Amino acid sequence: MGSRDQRSPALPNLITTATNKFDNRLPLPAWGCRFAPCDLRRVNFETTTIKLPMEAIPLKHYNIFVGPIELQLAAFLKGLDYSQLFVIADENTERHCLPRLEKALGQSPFSLVSVPSGEANKNLDSCRLIWKELMGQEAGRDALVINLGGGVIGDMGGFCAATFKRGIRFIQAPTTLLSQVDASIGGKLGIDFLQVKNSIGLFQDPLAVFIDPAFLDTLPSREIRSGFAELIKHSLIADAEQWARIRQLGRLENMDWESIIVHSLHIKRRIVEQDPLEKGIRKALNFGHTIGHAVEGLALETDTPLLHGEAVAIGLACEAYLSHQILGLPLKEVAQIGRYIVQQYGHYPQNPNHYPDLLALMRNDKKNQGGQINFTLINPLGQAAINQHCNPELIEESLNYYNGLAY
Ligand SMILES: NC(=O)c1ccc[n+]([C@@H]2O[C@H](COP(=O)([O-])OP(=O)(O)OC[C@H]3O[C@@H](n4cnc5c(N)ncnc54)[C@H](O)[C@@H]3O)[C@@H](O)[C@H]2O)c1
Ligand SMILES: [Zn+2]
Repeated sequence: MGSRDQRSPALPNLITTATNKFDNRLPLPAWGCRFAPCDLRRVNFETTTIKLPMEAIPLKHYNIFVGPIELQLAAFLKGLDYSQLFVIADENTERHCLPRLEKALGQSPFSLVSVPSGEANKNLDSCRLIWKELMGQEAGRDALVINLGGGVIGDMGGFCAATFKRGIRFIQAPTTLLSQVDASIGGKLGIDFLQVKNSIGLFQDPLAVFIDPAFLDTLPSREIRSGFAELIKHSLIADAEQWARIRQLGRLENMDWESIIVHSLHIKRRIVEQDPLEKGIRKALNFGHTIGHAVEGLALETDTPLLHGEAVAIGLACEAYLSHQILGLPLKEVAQIGRYIVQQYGHYPQNPNHYPDLLALMRNDKKNQGGQINFTLINPLGQAAINQHCNPELIEESLNYYNGLAY
């Protein structure tokens, strides 16, 4: 835990309230319709003193800004009244991302709270460290937190802020592809408890989200690929044309991420805004995740654990096969998905001796209802159907299908 106080005696507070000049929210389609192509209209942010070039995605209660963080954050902070600023980071984002954030903050003083990285540290011990630091620095209800990191820091830093003194404001600055396209919308915060993932937490929106694709420059390529699985998922459940474009993309390492991230965020936004508390159609986002979570859980107990997105990619291939069996998704399209997954992610055959364990994990999934394993499937491409059920034999068949994809 490090703490660096860079506060100067007087906080700059040149309040210049930003006003959103356009509402680029599209009418929400009825569920079951294919989504309209994304409207990526630029939103000009004008203030009385400054003009900022930025891409903004307005949600009900906050904006997501996409682009260079140094062009946006300082101006946003100037419009806010806060007593102290805290930045929560882990050791990797402190090293790789903090310098960029510091530049963006300019003269704004802050205290750094640094915690150990990784899912294993998304727990109460780390929360205790964060809360202790906030208490030690006498943070009041009018303090502000910036969470600088991947989904672990976003979920945990947000949770700590949302519960500290009954809630202080926080800003998300996601630095992994996964957290930029997935964790940045939906307001889910929390930690793991007694080995159960995300078992303690709440829904609470941030003040704003700042997504700077330049943070991805230092992200290991395996992490990039992992986050990319959520982008594939978004296209398969909501935008067949985007899926066609994704298949044409070259190597992920040299990608121009901004437009593809924005596109994906629009898809997730439309789904989440229709179902903020995950009671219905938000389940569309579970495509690939019923089998994916089980594969991820089982791999965790081996010497070769898979990252979340790597397991979800396997789940996407299997659940595309189930989509054929249950909903009639054409086999040609199932094969296209499977081939692409193996090309991007390699092939991790699942041992048939472990199928009972995988099925047991699926039966334990908190999304199940009425003792049935719950799936989201697709047909046609770009359209999801929630609350689908498959029998165990068919699920095993889908794993066999994946195993046969090697070439
Ligand atoms: N709230 C939500 O809606 C939501 C959605 C999806 C996932 N999640 C949660 O997100 C977590 C996974 O997130 P993640 O994949 O971002 O993992 P992570 O936060 O652990 O980040 C992965 C690794 O990359 C490092 N890192 C982060 N940014 C970096 C950068 N720019 N350069 C170099 N290294 C960097 C981190 O230190 C970590 O070691 C899980 O806990 C999951 O439950 C939440
Ligand atoms: Zn996921």
